[in-house]
Amino acid sequence: MTTTFDATDFESEMYDPDAVHMIPATGDRKPEHYPVDISTKAFWNQTSEQREETFRVLREEQPVSWQRPVDDAVTPDPDDPGYWAVVKHADIVKVSRDNETFVSGQGVLFDLLPPIFLELTQSFLAMDNPKHDRLRKLVASAFTPKQVKSIEDKVELAAKEIVDGFASDPSGEIDFVARCAKVLPTRIFCDIMGIPEHLREDTERNAGDVVAWADDEVLAGRAADEVQVQAATNLHDIAAELIELKKNEPGDDLVTALINAEVDGRHLDEFEIGSFFVLMAVAGTDTTRHTSAFTVRAFTHFPEQKKWLMEDYDGRINNAIEEFIRYACPVMTFRRTAVAETELGGHTVIPGDKVVLFYPSGCMDADVFENPEQFDLSRPNAKEHVGFGGGGVHFCLGNQLAKSMLRALFRELLFRIPEFEVGEPELLGTNFMRGVKRMPFRFTPEK
Ligand code: HEM
Repeated sequence: MTTTFDATDFESEMYDPDAVHMIPATGDRKPEHYPVDISTKAFWNQTSEQREETFRVLREEQPVSWQRPVDDAVTPDPDDPGYWAVVKHADIVKVSRDNETFVSGQGVLFDLLPPIFLELTQSFLAMDNPKHDRLRKLVASAFTPKQVKSIEDKVELAAKEIVDGFASDPSGEIDFVARCAKVLPTRIFCDIMGIPEHLREDTERNAGDVVAWADDEVLAGRAADEVQVQAATNLHDIAAELIELKKNEPGDDLVTALINAEVDGRHLDEFEIGSFFVLMAVAGTDTTRHTSAFTVRAFTHFPEQKKWLMEDYDGRINNAIEEFIRYACPVMTFRRTAVAETELGGHTVIPGDKVVLFYPSGCMDADVFENPEQFDLSRPNAKEHVGFGGGGVHFCLGNQLAKSMLRALFRELLFRIPEFEVGEPELLGTNFMRGVKRMPFRFTPEK
């Protein structure tokens, strides 16, 4: 059954409409929009290599530039003055760590989305302290050492079974996304949440819709905001069904742990678990999927790196994974909103200004990474990448799980079907996720 979104359906101790204010950009100063325009749909439809050419120009000329609103806003607003684009590594780190001046509670995407929608979809990703820390702590308390260990075992088993599914396929060719990249994180998300088989397909489809709002193929003629709201509402429905199920039949899964989690005498309510479920359905699946797709592509372009890694997989994989993330950098943008006047890149940022962080540009910053365009698994400072964010209170909560999935998957791929190459990827056209829809993967089958 699907319901339609209505803010009054949701009653949550955490949802306080007065606590989240939309502060419009104030003051009468309106900087000129910078002529190097990164808000066009055409820009976001380019390959990341093409976009990097433009980011390089901005990093050199104007590390913080005032940009017009993006073309494919989910909810276009004629009064939207634009945003500050932050493209240097040092500035991304500075903004990410100054959670007093640059807040997330007014939204983390380009658009000024309604506060209820943020809480519906983004949980504590779009909250500020003290609410953020309270909720993040509650969720983190559900990841007990026993839970983490059981997740690791599930990840290894899933990686093996997924590669079993195609390694000896005599055709020696698959769509890497459908048969491999997408399957592992989705299965792990479903496993750790304890999602039964009959809800898995629905969960996966709706999770895809929540993030792919600006991709014409995914939208298939539907309005972007409708797609996003409907998908989020459907995911809340699935979460509600799951909560009922787990209350009656507790399991060794995260939803059961979340129902029981208690911090300072307080439990999560149904709405909070639902919003966290939506956040995890997106944060925990698409990100890892696209990282593994771009990594097999990188191995095709830099075959010597594959050989080098295989010579001492256990000794080298942890640093290598940091380079996988730096090079793939699947999350392209997150926004903050300034709540105090401050200086950034030689400009005065005033309360209400939107400030957007461009992580792939930070990952390619030659002031931090030597020869950044090289996929170099022995890069000494690979872990300084900003692919999981630039630090601060919102730093990716799932980074260890993402690394564990990549470690397990590449062990299977490299040692069982070491001879492989990819064809041209079909890319997702959004300004949020650097994603691959489909990508041919050819390999010498396992005997
Ligand atoms: C390669 C994979 C991944 C990448 C590149 C990635 C990237 C990110 C980024 C850029 C942020 C925002 C950081 C900020 O605003 O400062 C974030 C936050 C988050 N990620 Fe990930 N992520 C990945 C995998 C995962 C996984 C597997 C999970 C869950 C199992 C997850 C859960 C979260 C959560 C819950 C947050 C919100 C944290 C907060 O606001 O406190 N992520 N991630």
